[in-house]
Amino acid sequence: MTGAEVPIIETRALGKVYSPGTQAEVVALRHADLRIGRGDFVAIMGPSGSGKSTLMNLIGCLDTPSSGQYLCDGIDVATLDAEELAVLRRDKIGFVFQGFNLLPRMSALENVAMPLGYAQVPPDERRELAHETLVAVGLGDRASHRPSELSGGQQQRVAIARALINRPPILLADEPTGALDSRTGEEILALFKRLRDDDHTVVLITHDAEVAAHAGRIFVMRDGEMHEEPGFGSRESGVVEPQIPGPGRAP
Ligand SMILES: Nc1ncnc2c1ncn2[C@@H]1O[C@H](COP(=O)(O)OP(=O)(O)OP(=O)(O)O)[C@@H](O)[C@H]1O
Ligand SMILES: [Mg+2]
Repeated sequence: MTGAEVPIIETRALGKVYSPGTQAEVVALRHADLRIGRGDFVAIMGPSGSGKSTLMNLIGCLDTPSSGQYLCDGIDVATLDAEELAVLRRDKIGFVFQGFNLLPRMSALENVAMPLGYAQVPPDERRELAHETLVAVGLGDRASHRPSELSGGQQQRVAIARALINRPPILLADEPTGALDSRTGEEILALFKRLRDDDHTVVLITHDAEVAAHAGRIFVMRDGEMHEEPGFGSRESGVVEPQIPGPGRAP
């Protein structure tokens, strides 16, 4: 298999059981088989408690599965030690949380610069990169504001900028438009489409069918089971089309 054929996200019979063997046991995800390619824009829908965040946390390497396999860009994440996993997460995955998860005492700029890590990137470069990324989400003029001095939609955009600062190939967003008015929601959708056009893979959880309709593929979750909406987008079969690798892409 060449690098060009490897899906950026592939799960094989992925499952998650919380508190197994106890009275509190919850089967949150059942044998999920997903193949998502570079440049795919995927929406995940489903009622509250159906397992959307559970799946997202597994894809984001924030949690470990109870069964099955997850290959991120061809790498079986179960074979990585903690340090290797942290590097993979830093280089491959941007995560926008269901809450905003911004640090209240830090400015927008400092929040966005967080994932760069203090050791690797010199301060001037950190600030410059963070500023560029804030400009990209339309917040260049709010860099010094703290989260409490920003609107909900602006806080959400700071959270998105933070997820994008390392230019990760995968952007995972858990209800990023949930708390937003429709105009701000549309701005964020436009941003996701630009990322997709730039060959990023965007996986978006949403309750909103109108938001999901912007995606190329839609999955619906019910009681931990995933089903792809047939007849939607160009890749409804779930088969990843061969992709021509862009310049500078690692295999
Ligand atoms: N840490 C946990 N421990 C035990 N059970 C959990 C845990 N996290 C989630 N669950 C349970 O797993 C199921 C799936 O939860 P999950 O957060 O994935 O749902 P969701 O689809 O994201 O819902 P929502 O739309 O409300 O965010 C739920 O029944 C939930 O109560
Ligand atoms: Mg959730």
